[in-house]
Amino acid sequence: MQEELYRAIFERRSVRKFEDVELKEGVLARLRKFTSEVRPLFPEIRTDFRVVGPEDVKGLFKVKAPHYMVAFSERKDGDAANAGFMLQQVDLHLVSIGLGSCWQGGPRLTRSSREGSELDPVILLAFGIPLRDERRRVVSDFDRRPLSEITEISGHDDILEAARLAPSAMNRQPWYFTAGENGSINVYAARSAVGERMNLVSAGIALCHMWLAAAHQGLSVGFDREPDETPGPKGYDYVATMITRHASGAQSQGANGVKVGRQVS
Ligand SMILES: Cc1cc2nc3c(=O)[nH]c(=O)nc-3n(C[C@H](O)[C@H](O)[C@H](O)COP(=O)(O)O)c2cc1C
Repeated sequence: MQEELYRAIFERRSVRKFEDVELKEGVLARLRKFTSEVRPLFPEIRTDFRVVGPEDVKGLFKVKAPHYMVAFSERKDGDAANAGFMLQQVDLHLVSIGLGSCWQGGPRLTRSSREGSELDPVILLAFGIPLRDERRRVVSDFDRRPLSEITEISGHDDILEAARLAPSAMNRQPWYFTAGENGSINVYAARSAVGERMNLVSAGIALCHMWLAAAHQGLSVGFDREPDETPGPKGYDYVATMITRHASGAQSQGANGVKVGRQVS
C-alpha cells in the first residue's frame, strides 16, 4: 500500500474539473475504510473523517466536485499538520485508483453539516472522477522551488525530493528542512499573518511524502515533536522531526542513538 502511495507522489496534480457523477457506494465505502486506517502524524490527537456533498460546502476557491472528504480534529497543538499528514494519504490513494482530488483550504462546511461532531473541521479534499487524465509524467511537470531553497541538508536527497514535490496552499511551498541529530530531519513551516494554518497543513503533507520516501528505502520512521536546541530558520515555526532507522534498528545516519523514534507500522 505504501509503495502505491509513494508512486503517486510523482504523478499527482490538483484536479479541478470532475465528471458530474457521484461515485458508487462501494467505492465510497472502500475509501472510508482506507481513510479509517491511515497513519497519524501525532496519534494523541483525536480525528474523524467524513464524506459530504457539494451542498455542504461553500466559500472562496471552491472546486465543484461530487464529493468532499472533511478532516475533523480536536483543537490541539499540531492538529493542522496532523490533518495534512493523514489526508495526504487519501489524496495519494485517490490518484492510485484513478480518481482525482483538490485540497480545499478556502471553502468551509455549511453550519448544518458541521453539526453532530464535537471535533472541528480543519481542511477539505474535493474528489471524484477527473474529466481528463491530468497526471504528471516527469518531474519537470511540477512547478516547485529547487531543493537548495528549501534545505541546507546534503544527503537524504530522495526523501527531501518527495517533500519538495508536495502540494501546498497557493503553491507557497512554506517549508524548510534542517538536519537534526543522528540523521533526523527537522521540518519547519513559514510563519504568516494570513494562512498560517494552511502552511501547517502543507508541512504535514510534506511530512507524509517524507515518510513514504523513507519507507520506500526500507527505513522505519518515527516522528518527534521536540525542537533542537539550535534555533530554526528565521520566520519559520518548528513542526516536527522525522527519525529514520534501518530495519536492523540502527539509525539511518550517525551512531549513538540519542533520539529514538516510534516504529513504522
Ligand atoms: C492546504 C492546501 C489548501 C489548498 N486550498 C485550495 C483551494 O482552496 N482551492 C484550490 O483551487 N486549490 C487549493 N489548493 C491546491 C493548491 O493550489 C495546489 O496544491 C498547488 O498549486 C500545487 O499544485 P498541484 O497540487 O497541482 O501540485 C490547496 C492546497 C493545499 C495543500
